[in-house]
Amino acid sequence: MNEEFKLELSIRPRRLRSSVSRRALVAETRLAPSDLISPLFVVDGDGDPEPVEAMPGVVRFPVRRLVTECRELFELGIPAVALFPCLEASQKDATGSGALDGNTLVLRAVRAIKRDVPGLTVITDIALDPYTTHGHDGLLNGDGTDVDNDATVAVLTRMAVLHAETGVDWVAPSDMMDGRVGTIRAALDTAGATDTGILAYSAKFASAFYGPFREAVGSATGRDRPVLDKRTYQLEPGNRREALREVWLDESEGADVVMVKPAGPYLDIIRDVREQSGLPVAAYQVSGEYAQIHAAAERGWLDLRACRDESLLAIKRAGADMILTYFARAVAERR
Ligand code: PBG
Repeated sequence: MNEEFKLELSIRPRRLRSSVSRRALVAETRLAPSDLISPLFVVDGDGDPEPVEAMPGVVRFPVRRLVTECRELFELGIPAVALFPCLEASQKDATGSGALDGNTLVLRAVRAIKRDVPGLTVITDIALDPYTTHGHDGLLNGDGTDVDNDATVAVLTRMAVLHAETGVDWVAPSDMMDGRVGTIRAALDTAGATDTGILAYSAKFASAFYGPFREAVGSATGRDRPVLDKRTYQLEPGNRREALREVWLDESEGADVVMVKPAGPYLDIIRDVREQSGLPVAAYQVSGEYAQIHAAAERGWLDLRACRDESLLAIKRAGADMILTYFARAVAERR
């Protein structure tokens, strides 16, 4: 019965999927190393790289090893890195004053990278969380119940100018304070840093997927501690219009690139931003997205490589021009 059965079909979409070469010809989305930005964690000292427990394959690099890593990433075709410092508890305080120290860890790392790999685009986070004992991205108000928006913007603006003067190519405010992009842009221009770009974390959601990152940078974490609540500044996960409003504001305040974060659970937001903004769109595949693929693969429940590549292809298909991902090096090496 099956052998005799033949549909009268002139349109058969499967014809385009019938071989590897035909599938290559009709591929609508391709992932290349040049789409990727590698987030990198940096620590003080001259020891060995330290593994991050909930992020298999991710380490905290001492500056010397970080420079080697950057050189290798650049040779693999990855155009940019985003640096995150991990400071000792003794280097933090309630106001995050370490952020304004011209010789702080991340700026020493920037100088070393710029000396050795000048062509690599170096991005640094503009937020206080690596520097504060409480782990919030900004200064707290008088009674410690919330971050103080305007006081935080003032500090972050000085931090951004300091980073620009040190040679950072793109400063990336990740704090979600109101008005920070415009204030930073004006200060950069006044300081003569007209070529320093702003990669704005525009639609950054209050996500539980940041957990492993907070362990990596040691910002108020620990299995026994409650999830740090940043909902007075980061976006509510269900809010789509509000996310677009933030993107529009950052664009009008002078952002060069707008970002959506996390990426995988927010593909609709990436698509919305792609359609409503004329700027390049970045997406951040965050630590928890990375950790869940690894965890399932470790149990033999998912294929690591296939899920990794599919997750990134989906983010690109949704409309991202560039993707921050802890998988960057592995993807570029095709391992
Ligand atoms: C904070 C910051 C966070 C991440 C990047 N910058 C965490 C947070 O908002 O608490 C998360 C990145 C990740 O999870 O991979 N300025």
